[in-house]
Amino acid sequence: MTTCTLPPASYNKLATTVARDTGQRPTAAFWIHAAALVRHAHEHGLAPADDRPPGPDGLLKSLESLARCHPALAPLADPAVLPLWERPLGEAAWAAVEEFWDRHPALESGQRVDGYALGDTYQLLSEEARKGRALCQTPPWVARLLLRLSLEPAMEEWGPADVRMIDPACGTGHIAVAAFHMARVATSGGRGSHPGWGGPRAVERALAAVSGVDLDPYAAALTAYRLLSSSASVLGLSLDRVPASWPVNVAVADSLLDRAEPLLAAGAYHACVANPPYITPKDPAVRGQVRAAYPQVAVGKYSLSLPFTALMLERLAVPGGFVAQLTSNAFMKREFGRRYITEFLPRFDSRWIIDTSGAYIPGHGTPTCILVHRARPPVGDTVTVIRGNRGEPRVPEDPAQGFVWRAIEDAVENRLARDRFQAAADSARQGEPTNT
Ligand SMILES: C[S@@+](CC[C@H](N)C(=O)[O-])C[C@H]1O[C@@H](n2cnc3c(N)ncnc32)[C@H](O)[C@@H]1O
Repeated sequence: MTTCTLPPASYNKLATTVARDTGQRPTAAFWIHAAALVRHAHEHGLAPADDRPPGPDGLLKSLESLARCHPALAPLADPAVLPLWERPLGEAAWAAVEEFWDRHPALESGQRVDGYALGDTYQLLSEEARKGRALCQTPPWVARLLLRLSLEPAMEEWGPADVRMIDPACGTGHIAVAAFHMARVATSGGRGSHPGWGGPRAVERALAAVSGVDLDPYAAALTAYRLLSSSASVLGLSLDRVPASWPVNVAVADSLLDRAEPLLAAGAYHACVANPPYITPKDPAVRGQVRAAYPQVAVGKYSLSLPFTALMLERLAVPGGFVAQLTSNAFMKREFGRRYITEFLPRFDSRWIIDTSGAYIPGHGTPTCILVHRARPPVGDTVTVIRGNRGEPRVPEDPAQGFVWRAIEDAVENRLARDRFQAAADSARQGEPTNT
C-alpha cells in the first residue's frame, strides 16, 4: 500500500521551487523531506513534547530534539547527512513546503506509523538517490513475500528468539520494517512464538533480529527512524522513552566492499533479504574494485545485483541460511549472466525461482524475478519454479491485488501447504510428532 497520491511531477515542481532558495536541488529535497519526517513524528505522538517554534528554525530544533531521543537517530542532526544548517530556507520556500504537506497525505492514514510513505516520498524527491544509487522502494507486499520464503522458514528452523536477518541494500527500510514486525509477532505470540515473551521484550528482540546497511546516509537514517517509530508506537511510547540501549542495527557502508563494518560480519545471518541495485557502477574505479572483489560473478558489463547475490550467499549467511531477493532478470538474457547461471548459482541450494516480470511492481520498470537460495550445496532434486504466462492486462488500481501478483501469491501458498502436508505425512510415517 502506498499513499503517494500526487503525480511524481508535483514533487519535482516543489523541489525546483525550493531549490531557487537553497541554490541546490539535493538540499531542497532534504528540506522538503525533513519537513515530512518532523510532521510524521509530531502527528503520531512520537516526538518529545518540545515547543516547536514555527518556520524553518523550528524544523531544525525538532530534528535536534529527535536526534537526542536515541543514538541511532543522531544522524538527523548531522549536517553531513542532512545539510540544512548551512543552507537556511527563506520564508516563501518554507510556505511552499508547508502548503505541499498540508494537502498531501505523506503521513498515511491515522494509524500507520511505520513510515512507508516517508520512504516512497524520499525516492520521489531525491534524484541523487534514484539515479545515482538506484533507490527504488520495494513495495511492502513484495517485501512480505520475500520474507515469507526466507525469514519465516529461518525462524522455524533456528527459533524466533535466535534468528537474525539483514538487508544489505536496505534503502529507506521497507524490507527491514516488515521483517521487524514479522519477528515481533513471532516472538510475542504468533506462530512458533517464544513462550513468555511479549511487550517490550518482544520489541527489543525484534529490533535485535533485524539489520540494514546502505550507502545512502539519509536513507539509512530513515530506516533507523522507522524501526524506532514502529517500536515506540507498538508500545504507546514517544521516541524519547525508548531505551537508548535498544539495538538499532543500521549502518552506512558499501556492503560490497566494506570489510570493517561489524554489521557485515561473515556468517552472521539466518536470512539475507534484498532488492539490490540493478545498475552497473558508473565510477570506473568502483566498477574495477567490485570486479576484483567478486570475480566469480562480476563479468563484462555486470549488474550490481550479481555481486550482491555472492555477498549474501558466500559471506553474510550462516551455513544453510536463506537468501531471498527481488532482482532484475537481465542476467537470464545478457552475456554477463552466463557465468552466474552456469557456474555460480549451481553451487547453491536453489529453492524458488519466481518470474515476476509480468507483475506490476510500481517503480520497477526493469523486468524482475524472485530468487530464493539456501547457502549450502544443492539438496535434493527439486526447485520450485513459478513461470509467468501473461502480464497484467492493465495497470492495476491496487498493485498488490493485480491478477499476476495474486496468482504468484496463490501459487506460493499452494506449494507451501503441499510441502507442509508432505512433511507431516513423512513424519507420521516415521512416528515422529509434528507441529502442523
Ligand atoms: C532497489 S533499492 C532498495 C530499496 C529498499 N529495499 C527499500 O525498499 O527502501 C537499492 C538500494 O541499494 C543501495 N546501494 C547501492 N549500492 C550499494 C552498495 N554498494 N552498498 C550498500 N547499498 C547500496 C542504494 O542506495 C539503494 O538504497
